[in-house]
Amino acid sequence: MPDALGVGVIGLGEIGQFHLRGYARSRGARPVAVADMNATLVASSSAEYDTLGFHDYHELIADPGVQVISICLPHSLHTPVTIEAVRAGKHVLVEKPLAISVAECDQILAAAQSAKVIVGLQHNQIFYPAHVRAKELIDSGAIGRPLQLRLRLAIGGKYQGWRTDPAVAGGGILFDAGVHRFYLARYLFGEIVEVSAVTDKPRTDGEDQAVVSLRFGNGALGVIDASYHGPAKMFDDAVEIVGTEGALYLSGVEAEFEGFRTGPALRLYDGAWHDLRVPGGDWADSVAASIQAFVDAVRTDAEPPVPLREGRRVVELIEMAYAG
Ligand SMILES: NC(=O)c1ccc[n+]([C@@H]2O[C@H](COP(=O)([O-])OP(=O)(O)OC[C@H]3O[C@@H](n4cnc5c(N)ncnc54)[C@H](O)[C@@H]3O)[C@@H](O)[C@H]2O)c1
Repeated sequence: MPDALGVGVIGLGEIGQFHLRGYARSRGARPVAVADMNATLVASSSAEYDTLGFHDYHELIADPGVQVISICLPHSLHTPVTIEAVRAGKHVLVEKPLAISVAECDQILAAAQSAKVIVGLQHNQIFYPAHVRAKELIDSGAIGRPLQLRLRLAIGGKYQGWRTDPAVAGGGILFDAGVHRFYLARYLFGEIVEVSAVTDKPRTDGEDQAVVSLRFGNGALGVIDASYHGPAKMFDDAVEIVGTEGALYLSGVEAEFEGFRTGPALRLYDGAWHDLRVPGGDWADSVAASIQAFVDAVRTDAEPPVPLREGRRVVELIEMAYAG
């Protein structure tokens, strides 16, 4: 094992830049190659991180100096690029969602199993300190028996580019920012045993608005309400949790990142509301922490913090929501 694993980042758009920063400040890995079909991004990123730069990601995958690959591409490319990378013997961190269907997830799982490499998901919000603290409070019984979870998301305007094509994105808002709500729901309340949704448009037209009902294995109920119909440019997300003895309110980590701070990160109700101090980082730090945990898993040959089966389950739940 080298002192620092050589990392290649494929896709240098919004999140690819955060992956590069995360690896650059990580212990045990460093960026050595970047790839994107956008030549300007290749030039600027390879200059900033002193890496090789490729316009064709096949060349990055084949490069012997690359041991770990981050896939930061539009969703429909996750499956072919992940499979090519694992067949080349590379460890892979895939951005959410794992793929655009359960069938594709299974192709990735099969390829990863025979390649004996480590493949994990970038579900960064479970590394956000206020989410971690909320889970600790729930698990310790601080709110009694968890009964109700609401994950709210309102974005002021639909994201453009590849996200407007449901064949590329996998659907609409549920298959993009919605993904974070599904894995966060499982992280906080455990397995989801029943899911259904109403949407403004079918998946194949790319829904802009969805209300998802959840039933958890512990008997609790949940709601994900997500929409692109907020006032222009606004971003609002929040998590509300109710138990028999208390409640928690989390002002959204993405809203804070987007400049829409709506209050303290975490509040606890136990007869009165208290603002809880949660030391630690913000959304960008959660990406870096997620990357560090993945690097640690690769270096110690351990199961990644977010394994493939978790990425598959989230895609399965979204497909169940569309079906219901
Ligand atoms: N974890 C998070 O909070 C978070 C935030 C944003 C995006 N994401 C995820 O990250 C992934 C990328 O999203 P984004 O917002 O960075 O998208 P983006 O459009 O900003 O960047 C995608 C990049 O991929 C490049 N690309 C597309 N097709 C290519 C090809 N065939 N070969 C080489 N390069 C190609 C594009 O040129 C672009 O630079 C998605 O899976 C998305 O869901 C996650």
